[in-house]
Amino acid sequence: MIRSVVRGYGAALPKRVVTNRELEETVETSDEWIVQRTGIRQRYIAGEGETTASLGEQAARAALDNAGLTPDDIDLVLVATSTPNNTFPATAVEIQNRLGMTHGYAFDMQAVCTGFVYAMATADLHIRGGMAKRALVIGAETFSRILDWNDRTTCVLFGDGAGALVIEAAEGEGTIADRGVLTSHLRSDGSHKDKLYVDGGPSTTGTVGHLRMEGREVFKHAVAMITDVIEGAFAATGTTAEDLDWLVPHQANRRIIDGSAKKLGIPSEKVVVTVDMHGNTSAASIPLALSVACADGRIKKGDLVMLEAMGGGFTWGALMVRW
Ligand code: ACO
Repeated sequence: MIRSVVRGYGAALPKRVVTNRELEETVETSDEWIVQRTGIRQRYIAGEGETTASLGEQAARAALDNAGLTPDDIDLVLVATSTPNNTFPATAVEIQNRLGMTHGYAFDMQAVCTGFVYAMATADLHIRGGMAKRALVIGAETFSRILDWNDRTTCVLFGDGAGALVIEAAEGEGTIADRGVLTSHLRSDGSHKDKLYVDGGPSTTGTVGHLRMEGREVFKHAVAMITDVIEGAFAATGTTAEDLDWLVPHQANRRIIDGSAKKLGIPSEKVVVTVDMHGNTSAASIPLALSVACADGRIKKGDLVMLEAMGGGFTWGALMVRW
């Protein structure tokens, strides 16, 4: 059977780092409060000329270099983002153009922080269905542009960045020993839509709006939702936490990450954490974390890796991939 195998990874961050101490100067907060509640120590914030498309392009080029490929080798560009450059056309099309591609097809996927898991699951279907041979799956965000910088309950949590994977069709045996995406589990429940949302949009206010969140409500549901889809992935593949080499979670909050890993019996040494460096970069957080853990040699070919995320909607999902 056809599997979607990871061939390359890449990441991009804005030039400017903003520490918790810097935020103390603009909102009533403290480094201690932010670190204790979230694990975040710093985040990167996009400056002039840095956009979701420019960061996404940079991450895509890095992933292509890492794969030893060029844009000519790609059929599909899929971008997970909730902060597109424009309402339309899709940021994926803009990145396709920046890469000099006039072949293939490109589109955006909007599942907020779960966007990268949704995008990987979708690209996998396109590859296994024979529509594409190679896909660039990109998570790219500039959440700093939709934050209310006077709201300390949200502005300290998020950051900007992008990450990308190149995945390609390869023949597998149909067992979990195969390299590539092995199973994906996506969920959503719109009854929670008012707990984490943006208070504007093209069809309602005609404005972009700002992110609003009931943090405690999100926290309350996060661990149960995350562990549910991960257990689904274990059940579908006949694996357990012990078989896993790496858990690469969406990087929203250290306490949610630790709580989920503990509930699943995954030791902290097997969990990739970058929330301290990047903050919550929404759909970009998983590919950014993957890039860090691949570059430093933790994630190696053949490793069993679980990706998971939960975010606005609510949406949540898990995807198991053998690297
Ligand atoms: N600095 C200092 N004090 C603050 C700050 C801040 N930045 N923000 C809130 N506080 C205060 C509050 O005003 C409150 O004060 P009060 O008791 O005097 O009213 C106190 O801290 C406690 O506030 P809570 O909201 O109860 O704090 P909590 O312990 O729940 O932590 C947090 C807040 C970190 C947002 C937590 O709820 C959380 O992590 N929620 C999940 C949020 C999340 O991860 N969202 C992203 C997931 S989905 C996605 O990625 C898009």
